[in-house]
Amino acid sequence: MKELFGQLADGTKVHRWSLENGGTRLKVLSYGGIVQSLELPDRSGQYANVSLGFDTVEEYEASSPYFGALVGRYGNRIAQGRFTLDGEDYRLSVNDGDNSLHGGTEGFDKRVWDVEEVTSGPDVGLVLRRTSADGEMGFPGTLTTKVTYTLTERGDWRIDYEATTDRATIVNLTNHVYWNLAGEGAGSVHDHELTIAASRYTPVDAGLIPTGELAEVADTPFDFREPKTVGEGLRRADPQLLHAKGIDHNLVLDKGLTERPEHIATLRDPSSGRTLKLATTEPGVQFYSGNFLDGTLVGPGGRAYRQGDALCLETQHFPDSPNRPEFPSTVLRPGGTYRSTTVHSFGI
Ligand code: GLA
Repeated sequence: MKELFGQLADGTKVHRWSLENGGTRLKVLSYGGIVQSLELPDRSGQYANVSLGFDTVEEYEASSPYFGALVGRYGNRIAQGRFTLDGEDYRLSVNDGDNSLHGGTEGFDKRVWDVEEVTSGPDVGLVLRRTSADGEMGFPGTLTTKVTYTLTERGDWRIDYEATTDRATIVNLTNHVYWNLAGEGAGSVHDHELTIAASRYTPVDAGLIPTGELAEVADTPFDFREPKTVGEGLRRADPQLLHAKGIDHNLVLDKGLTERPEHIATLRDPSSGRTLKLATTEPGVQFYSGNFLDGTLVGPGGRAYRQGDALCLETQHFPDSPNRPEFPSTVLRPGGTYRSTTVHSFGI
């Protein structure tokens, strides 16, 4: 179902699509490809929206910290907003101190996408399309992007990203859902139990740029190889947690970059019984523990969002890869196709 959701400050209309399949209910905006609501049943069949967001387009446009957004052209940070490709220097839009974050001041999360509803067999879904002009936010190449959101028969939410270019460029697309499996506004996620199949992580400097080291997670807050509560990780004394007021780090997935999505993480809320299993083709995941939520933003349920009220698991290539030749490459060339898939499987 498609309905008018609101309009941007410049008058552009924003629509909202509602999908339901296999017990999962998903609401998506044409603005930023934003997941505005994702509803799941708990162990007694009670539905709750498990992703932070807003009721109005005005709030999304004014001050959203990427709630539910489709992030691009480059998810995560690029140091100083600079990189060199094939001998040419590029300068990107800088929006996070000295660095470029999530595609710059007007990334893919702040653009209106063309959305088309699709059904394939028992699955329902949306195809989101957008062409990013050569030079947009400083990135080279016209990037033709197609992102498919599928709700499968069993209620999984699958994202397939695809992009092509007419000039050598860099791409790193992801999604920025803020999860709280007890329901948005239910309070802290510190009791959620998390497992991530990553033995290493990328330590960062004060600006959250990787130092280049791939450090072992053993004896650090980033060791989620065995199920552990989010709070347990956050309470460890470690100078890395001071840079980002908590966890805001890229974990290096043991499986590496894969052709097919492989299981990498499980999140479980003991109070509701809801679980999320994540599978991806990507080599990394940014685990962000909602550190910058400070009570100024209020969700649809009327509750203010405070630090730790949600967490993000952004599947991705590593931050600052364009300046780190030793990291898996984010370069896309004409003739090639960027592909990335992430599957969210829900259970009780
Ligand atoms: C990403 C970043 C964080 C923060 C959030 C939005 O997850 O890594 O540092 O910027 O987005 O607040």
